[in-house]
Amino acid sequence: WLWVRNLRQNRRLPGPFAWPVVGNAMQLGQMPHITFSKLAKKYGNVYQISLGSNKIVVLNGEVAIRQALLKHSTAFAGRPNFGTFQMVSGGKSMVFGGYTRLWKEHRRIAQSTIRAFSTANSHTKKLFEQHVVGEAIDLIKVFLCLGADSCYFEPGHELTVAAANVICALCFGKRYSHDDQEFKTLLGRVDKFGQTVGAGSLVDAMPWLQAFPNPVRSGYLNFKELNNEFFEFVKDKIIQHRQTYDPEVTRDMSDAIIGVIEHGTGTGDGLTKEHVEGTVNDLMGAGQDTISTALHWVLLLLVKYPNIQTKIQELIDKEVGRERLPTIEDKSKLAYLEAFIYETMRFTSFVPITIPHSTTSDVTIEGHYIPKDTVVFVNQWSVNHDELKWKDPHVFEPSRFLNESGVIDRDLTNSVMIFSMGKRRCIGDQIAKLQIFLFTAILLHQCTFEANPADKPSLDCSYGLSLKPTHFALTAKLRGTFLDLVS
Ligand code: HEM
Repeated sequence: WLWVRNLRQNRRLPGPFAWPVVGNAMQLGQMPHITFSKLAKKYGNVYQISLGSNKIVVLNGEVAIRQALLKHSTAFAGRPNFGTFQMVSGGKSMVFGGYTRLWKEHRRIAQSTIRAFSTANSHTKKLFEQHVVGEAIDLIKVFLCLGADSCYFEPGHELTVAAANVICALCFGKRYSHDDQEFKTLLGRVDKFGQTVGAGSLVDAMPWLQAFPNPVRSGYLNFKELNNEFFEFVKDKIIQHRQTYDPEVTRDMSDAIIGVIEHGTGTGDGLTKEHVEGTVNDLMGAGQDTISTALHWVLLLLVKYPNIQTKIQELIDKEVGRERLPTIEDKSKLAYLEAFIYETMRFTSFVPITIPHSTTSDVTIEGHYIPKDTVVFVNQWSVNHDELKWKDPHVFEPSRFLNESGVIDRDLTNSVMIFSMGKRRCIGDQIAKLQIFLFTAILLHQCTFEANPADKPSLDCSYGLSLKPTHFALTAKLRGTFLDLVS
């Protein structure tokens, strides 16, 4: 048996030649997910690269990814033991934590808390919807001010505040004004979080770079600082919650998590007080950046394709009318809008590679042996741009998700891969889709968005855990009267 094992281990996975010390670090380019997809054409869907001292297996395409994350779900459920991952949520992160018995309990609590404050029943769904509607209305007011007299503005910060306010309301029962300077500074720094934890970041691959001044070292130090700062913000809120905690009244997610972990009857077994802050910090981080990035792309694509924008507006006017705002209940009537959102997720694949995984045991995928504790990158972009699966994958075409009768093709929407799959699948997928739908529907019901004719909207973006549009400005014009907003 040992002989067979040694033979397997010595059979190197296919992959590009790795240079000493740096490995393939210099070959990743500005958009590693695209480089990885190109390498898959040469080496197959499962291959190996090196980043500094780390050997990394890259998984591409639906078949290999499904085989790994679903068929061998436990073997691929780990997270690498990266130094930066330990800095998140005071070292008690569920998102960045390894696969253990405690982690399973931690994830279960986070998952049921999200559900309890969103989709659990019609009452919680309505409360959740009210938070989003409130933020969407506020966002429109700010956009109309910024866009007055056809001024062009970058929407990034306002989208970040709107998305952060929804999750802040859920976690703490609190929201912030769009011009709150402290909140603005805090969120501005968090924006950089994904650059360090995204697949291909060199901070963990070459720890020796931290020994002398260079961009990787400053990235590392900034990362440490922004995590501490954000964690202090969350800890402060949790302390206030503990002081005013009443077991009879669950005000928000923080109360719910304090209740389960600190006052629970066995459910929070093994989790400590620090896991409360860790969980809330995780939810705040995961729930904010992704939604604001999604909305950023939504606006960019709406101004890039004005005909699509008009088509959605006409549909909303027909199905919802001008007398009230769109609601979650309207979703089934607005199939083209849902198709637009799925196409935005597929086309941009704005979380192109999941958070890095690691193997929890030796495992074989598509005939390739992968040892325990190997870092694994899951290339979601490759699934969404597979030419065998999607007709003209590089063309933005929402109608691809509708059948001849204009009904959403669920097999196809389920094939879009942006929330990952298996044991680490995103636990915020439902609330994410609801938020993106409601924000987009309400924004388009009330406003028309236009790009600066002198500055054609470009798909340029910066790479990290999420892809973020760069240098994109628009203006917002009110459709109809402002009265719509108070109806
Ligand atoms: C993890 C995508 C919104 C909570 C993830 C992962 C992806 C993802 C790709 C990593 C999965 C993996 O490593 O295999 C997205 C996208 C979103 C979104 C595209 C928005 C469009 C949210 C929201 C929340 C959330 C709103 C919660 C409030 C989480 C958590 C994890 C996670 C807690 C960690 C799961 C784990 O490690 O077990 N998400 N997410 N996400 N997401 Fe989301």
